[in-house]
Amino acid sequence: MATTLPDNASLEQDLVVAQAAVTKQGDTVRSLKASLKEKKADKAQVEAAIEQLKNLKASLDLKQKEFQSASGKTSSTNREAFRDAVKTVLERRLFYIPSFEIYGSVAGFYDYGPPGCALKQNFTQFWRQHFVLEESMLEVECPAVTPEVVLKASGHVDRFTDLMVTDVVTGDCHRADHLLEAALQALLDGKPKPLDTQERQAVHHLLATVEELNVKQLGDALEQYGVKAPETNNDISRPFPFNLMFKTSIGPRGDQVGYLRPETAQGIFVNFRHLLYSNGGKLPFAAAQIGQSFRNEISPRAGLLRVREFTQAEIEHFCNPDAKDHPKFQSIAREQPLLFSRALQMSEEKQPQAMQLGDAVSQSIIANQTLAYFIGRTYLFLLRVGINPKRLRFRQHLANEMAHYAEDCWDAEVECSYGWVECVGLADRSAYDLRAHATKSKTDMSAYEPFPDGSRMVDVLVAAVDKREVGKTYKKDGKAITEALESLPEEEKACMQADLAAGKPCKVTVGDAEFAITAAMVQIKQEKKKLTGRNFVPSVIEPSFGVGRIIYCMFEHCYATRKGDEKRSLFHFKPIVAPVKATVFPLFAQPTFIDQAQAVAALLTAAGLSTIVDSTGASIGKRYARTDEIGVPFAVTVDHQTLEDSTVTVRDRDSTTQVRVPIAEVQALLTELVKGRTWESMQQQYPTHASAADDN
Ligand code: ATP
Ligand code: GLY
Repeated sequence: MATTLPDNASLEQDLVVAQAAVTKQGDTVRSLKASLKEKKADKAQVEAAIEQLKNLKASLDLKQKEFQSASGKTSSTNREAFRDAVKTVLERRLFYIPSFEIYGSVAGFYDYGPPGCALKQNFTQFWRQHFVLEESMLEVECPAVTPEVVLKASGHVDRFTDLMVTDVVTGDCHRADHLLEAALQALLDGKPKPLDTQERQAVHHLLATVEELNVKQLGDALEQYGVKAPETNNDISRPFPFNLMFKTSIGPRGDQVGYLRPETAQGIFVNFRHLLYSNGGKLPFAAAQIGQSFRNEISPRAGLLRVREFTQAEIEHFCNPDAKDHPKFQSIAREQPLLFSRALQMSEEKQPQAMQLGDAVSQSIIANQTLAYFIGRTYLFLLRVGINPKRLRFRQHLANEMAHYAEDCWDAEVECSYGWVECVGLADRSAYDLRAHATKSKTDMSAYEPFPDGSRMVDVLVAAVDKREVGKTYKKDGKAITEALESLPEEEKACMQADLAAGKPCKVTVGDAEFAITAAMVQIKQEKKKLTGRNFVPSVIEPSFGVGRIIYCMFEHCYATRKGDEKRSLFHFKPIVAPVKATVFPLFAQPTFIDQAQAVAALLTAAGLSTIVDSTGASIGKRYARTDEIGVPFAVTVDHQTLEDSTVTVRDRDSTTQVRVPIAEVQALLTELVKGRTWESMQQQYPTHASAADDN
């Protein structure tokens, strides 16, 4: 099987190591020369060190050439040729279609055609099984149109922006970080000319830290490297923020502002109280939602990877901030995904390392067990749907890249012809989201947990209200204000205590009205109280999946051509996600064969296995090639022997080997194969059928 793209990561690693050795030896030579002046080293020592430096430089030179020739092969032309080959099949077989095509299409929108749609259904169904069913998550479905107040509370109205630059001549818009990344990558690929060692290191480091740059730093870097607008090569503006949300209005008067949601998560947060109640008031629990999200991306050019409407599958795991261990952690503790920690990204080598998740938690590389548990489950999920583990890494966010409230974030990144692409974001968001909605909606978003050891004496803040003083100022509102002060959450009492002490103005909210509070009206005091449990706002750990991105990467990772026949392409889809599980072929286009094939297909369909019948007159080899091209994993053929002994042949797409199986058993067997039974076990159980079709 001719496989996908060559992997030049190890060459790059060798190169970085060789560069580091040269730098180190250079330092040694310099310090020896200094020592020679002070007569602390002799000439022979210096000469030996210089000789060694020369050897190291020669070896570096060789590695640089090797790397440049390999990246020349894998980068640009080859990557694009590979992408075009995959895209041609995907579009011809209608996996996806640019939307509104007869009107010229609109960038960033795609339709899934019949096999794409079936594959996506299978994918989300398997996601449900792997996450929702496995963890007894609470699934919800919320509207995409969201009133402004929700997204104001979550911070999206003010901060959901990307940095944009415009072409100063044409006005075309571009994402500033993407332009810088592309320019730096081109430099690393030796364009316009190969870099020397020092330049290479600087560019490599900047590329690894683009996400860290603020608007000024990004603008400066674009200027420093003379980045121009793609295609036109015109100058570009300084970067500025652009909000990615689609705005709309709700209702016929058009006076209520709404947005199409940019993520599905907010629907879960605003339902937190209901979900907690339905879980019997107990933590931890997780809720999930699969649905459409919308982002008015600045310049969507990367096919299904960056679109303006896409399916997200998101999980919000709510837990006690002091208890982030996970009961099922041991089940994934030995999994060894490639981890690209903050420290590794900042190191000279900049290479991820395979590491057991148990070790990553015990060495505090991943913040807690629950986050690591979801990294482990995500890793297993991605492998089960056909992502190549060598081209999958979990990259930790750099310090500035992470939102200020987040405790730790990791992205599952998959390498494809577009480079490394974030497909899943996994974040410990602390209690930020629930707190934000609690404040804006004035709704209690806390959970209560009894102390495991019975009751405890606890320090609490109590609001001692001077009712006469409040009544004097606010008359009939006095009673409601007193109640509001007494029931303030602990943290708000603490703020008020500090503000009153500092002489700052304080307010309390009752309904829609706010009332100024003075130190004469209330005293916030610390008291000891016997409590049997405590209230707290839960922390949230959020795995967020972009369905289309994973599916696209899966397309690339599963694409191959038959050895010796590069024109015959196929997709090695895992049976669980394959759009069609089996094709049934009558060996000849004659009624007896066709009727029998229809009967076998009906059996399979009845078991929920999507099946097509190909009774065209083409040769069986050609028909196999056609179903291989859309990644059908199994083919069942009705031949002469079927009419004699009610057996059919079953062919495995990947090995192209066949076995002969009684019709009575074919339904159960294919069901097992789709669920993960190995083909080898079939070969042990059933006689091999030597194929008449010449399909190697
Ligand atoms: P990027 O930096 O690539 O724009 P992001 O960091 O904004 O992505 P998140 O907000 O973390 O992405 O969204 C969670 C997931 O949703 C991503 O991991 C990705 O798989 C998916 N996603 C985000 N934006 C898009 C898009 N425009 N098209 C397709 N999928 C997307
Ligand atoms: N099972 C039919 C063939 O490949 O010959």
